Amino acid sequence: IPVEPFDLVVFGGTGDLARRKILPGLYRRFLGGQMPPESRIIGAARSEMTEDEFRAMARAAIAEFVSADKRDAAMIDQFISLISYVAIDAKGDGGWATLKGMMRKGVVRAFYFSVAPALFGALAERLHDHNIADAKSRIVVEKPFGRDLDTARALNATLAKHFREEQIYRIDHYLGKETVQNLMAVRFANILFEPIWKAQYIDHVQITVAETVGVEGRGAYYDTSGAMRDMVQNHLMQLLCLIAMEPPYHFDPNAVRDEKLKVIRALDPVEHQDIVRGQYLAGGGQKSYVDHSENPASKTESYIAMKVHVSNWRWKGTPFYLRTGKRLRARTSEIAITFKEPPHSIFDDAEGWRENVLVIRLQPNEGMNLMVMIKEPGPGGMRLTQVPLDMSFAEALGEDGADIPDAYERLIMDVIRGNQTLFMRGDEVEAAWAWADPIIQAWERKGDKPRGYEPGTSGPEDALMLLHRDGRRWREIRE
Ligand code: BG6
Repeated sequence: IPVEPFDLVVFGGTGDLARRKILPGLYRRFLGGQMPPESRIIGAARSEMTEDEFRAMARAAIAEFVSADKRDAAMIDQFISLISYVAIDAKGDGGWATLKGMMRKGVVRAFYFSVAPALFGALAERLHDHNIADAKSRIVVEKPFGRDLDTARALNATLAKHFREEQIYRIDHYLGKETVQNLMAVRFANILFEPIWKAQYIDHVQITVAETVGVEGRGAYYDTSGAMRDMVQNHLMQLLCLIAMEPPYHFDPNAVRDEKLKVIRALDPVEHQDIVRGQYLAGGGQKSYVDHSENPASKTESYIAMKVHVSNWRWKGTPFYLRTGKRLRARTSEIAITFKEPPHSIFDDAEGWRENVLVIRLQPNEGMNLMVMIKEPGPGGMRLTQVPLDMSFAEALGEDGADIPDAYERLIMDVIRGNQTLFMRGDEVEAAWAWADPIIQAWERKGDKPRGYEPGTSGPEDALMLLHRDGRRWREIRE
């Protein structure tokens, strides 16, 4: 279903995100018939550039980041004709009158702030002062949304001066991933799981986001951030919320976000001994973290594992183990829910017994796997064995499953539709920082140094202990 025609202004239009995700994503939605040809995309950035030069850049981005089977010459030409460019001075007045002249009446106006957060305030103010944003306009802001509670609050306050919360779309691209949304469908569209979705039946939950890439090329940013700020405070936190939240009364933006907020507020402070931080060493012909960050004394973590408790009736006593890191063995993200033992075993084969585990694979090869016990075939008596009920979404859904939109394409279309369900509300972001801040401050106070780990492994050895101590084991990191 096509969205309404829109004018989308991309501030930071010549940047990396615009080239890799925003412009290619918009093209794919155009090809898919969702972006109406009456829409316009306006790149805005500091560089003096002609419209033709910007269009050439967009064309090159499509050639590089859209798969060959989706590159249709005639469609690309049409799409490119919808693009224009304006050189803009975010902090001064240059270009704003021109931009105003380009905006049309009667279409949705959206402004994508794909720029450093230090410029958010200036952009919001200029849009307001030059009367470019109307009451129905939307702004889209990228992470990092602050680097602690104070900076996040200040950002929220700055944006709130000129925009209502209903106009602000804070992106966490994990929420745009197909399988992440599927978490909600699996939980709330089936009767099967929800009755046992609680501490009484669930032993523990593991959330893993493992990457094989290092921080090459973005070491300067990353070194001021680290895995806790870059991944846990946002992406892993969102996954945890979707697993732990109560059923919202409706699939409605505020209903969903209210429930997520309650989870974040119910998180216990995390004890120092329940956290393992790591930093990748050199290996496999690749540089170490400190070489990539060009900071030999860096205490920033490129890996983190932690045990987290959600203190409420549903989850009391069930730990959530989170881990994420760079330069690990495989690129894989999954959520694994391990259930408890049946209350009483009628079988003698205690050795054959294994826990039920529900694994939701976020990427790659999105799907679900439920490990169940059955009888081992043959005449050897009642011996038990565990087998997978394994489903790949792509296989199960055939053609429909193969053509899954990228997180950014979906989220941009949601902005135009005016649907905030998959975007973070201001209070949610602040609550997540309020939880993360004391953890980070404790490291800073103690001068905590991450452990080195060999690249291509599953992280520092100490992370294994985090679970061993509790009589549990991490799942293997593999594709
Ligand atoms: C970004 C982080 O938000 O997410 C990166 O800044 C990380 O460090 C990336 O690599 C991971 O996203 P994805 O979609 O590749 O899992």
